[in-house]
Amino acid sequence: METTRSTSIILDTDPGCDDAVAIMLAAKQACLNLKALTVVAGNDILPKTARNALAVCSYLGLDQLTIAAGMVRPLVREQVVIKGIHGENDLANLEFGEPTIKLSNKHAVNLIIDILLSAEEEITFVALGPLTNLAMAIRLEPRIIPKIKRIVLIGGSYGFGNITPAAEFNIYADPEAAHIVFTCGRPIVMIGLSITERVLVTKEVMEKIGSINNRAALLFSKLMTFYNRANHRFFCEEVSPLYDPAAIVYLINPSIFTTKPMYVEIELKSAQSYGRTYCDYYGTLNKSANAEVVTDLDSDGFWSIIYETIKLYG
Ligand code: RIB
Ligand code: CA
Repeated sequence: METTRSTSIILDTDPGCDDAVAIMLAAKQACLNLKALTVVAGNDILPKTARNALAVCSYLGLDQLTIAAGMVRPLVREQVVIKGIHGENDLANLEFGEPTIKLSNKHAVNLIIDILLSAEEEITFVALGPLTNLAMAIRLEPRIIPKIKRIVLIGGSYGFGNITPAAEFNIYADPEAAHIVFTCGRPIVMIGLSITERVLVTKEVMEKIGSINNRAALLFSKLMTFYNRANHRFFCEEVSPLYDPAAIVYLINPSIFTTKPMYVEIELKSAQSYGRTYCDYYGTLNKSANAEVVTDLDSDGFWSIIYETIKLYG
């Protein structure tokens, strides 16, 4: 019997409320083979993002998943974290109790290298936070580069920033790591702030997903209730942009995304624009594109994939 071709992925994350929803989707979709969850410092310091990855995966019953903690800080710059938006504990201040899953004793960077070097199948690297783990793995063991089928990352912007006027948080948190990734030569899908208006968790989305009677939907509702309130000050209403799940939805159905090949360069020197992704939208530099940059997505298609995937949880 023909089995559905599944995409093997390593999911690198810094949970984070939106990261938690992305983990929910990645773990349940039959078309995705989640090889490992690697955690990075980003939304908060590594002990907190690692604890949150264990908490979410324990809550969702993902006991077989290998979860490894990675880089504790950016490669060069001082660490920046996001205060407040995700809550004090970066998961909407929800109480999860003691996780039932333990961290792997392997460092995430070594786990990434081991999986990529030993895999028979092609591996897609999905990055939902700063690119520190992947960049470190590339520098430590360059032989992994040809083993990476594609890098699907949440980050960057060809317009405004969300942590400075010029930069999006995941890139700003470790611009040097982003530079290593954007110059590694492997195919990149960059999903950045251009999708903001398409992935807003509105009242209608909350009602629709809230109508599902299972643990995953309950977690979604609790996380987003907090996240929407926290984002009120940026969007003048209780809505949040749910960026990270877009990377998973892209792997499930890329046809709902509009992309444009662009040459993308990371600003490493300017004080004002440090961490900016300079996206050559009109090809003015005549340099070959190093990324497929998402310029739009079908919002109805996005939310129906999220709704149907959350429904898969018992
Ligand atoms: O800019 C969006 C990114 O920053 C997402 O990964 C979200 O988790 C936040 O940390
Ligand atoms: Ca994230």
